[in-house]
Amino acid sequence: MDADITLRVDGVEHRLTVDTRTTVLDALRERLGITSPKKGCDHGQCGACTVLLEGRRVNSCLMPAVAHDGADLRTADGLADGEPHPVQRGFVEHDAFQCGYCTPGQVVSAVAAVDELHAGEPSAVTDRGADLAEEIRERMSGNICRCGAYANIVRAVEEAVTR
Ligand code: FES
Ligand code: FES
Repeated sequence: MDADITLRVDGVEHRLTVDTRTTVLDALRERLGITSPKKGCDHGQCGACTVLLEGRRVNSCLMPAVAHDGADLRTADGLADGEPHPVQRGFVEHDAFQCGYCTPGQVVSAVAAVDELHAGEPSAVTDRGADLAEEIRERMSGNICRCGAYANIVRAVEEAVTR
């Protein structure tokens, strides 16, 4: 069964017809050609597909597109505003990637993590007095990097928090 939906992606509105089993990730990649969200596990385990939905990070591989008709999405491609987003700058300056496959998801997730930290939202480690690096490791724990670039990812996010 098909359904007509609208997705606003990085400020651009797209109308499309999708099978009702289509995920947001597949709608973005396969239907709209927006490939910065990556497919890693397709099961909500790796974070490669992370996008911002109304400003909150979500795993787009777990989201039925029909359930998000009219959604406002932001991908890593849409973060820059004339110049790179501070988180993107941090990833480049700290060499926070190797193959780069996980990087768009890491960057999007980091943008939300920085916002959560600035808003004073607690994480699972806040109550035990975690320092900033521990907070970042906890908040970024849903994003897996098979290249193991974690140490530099934490440094990049630390810098973005303090910028
Ligand atoms: Fe969505 Fe892995 S592809 S969490
Ligand atoms: Fe290769 Fe993270 S940089 S998976």
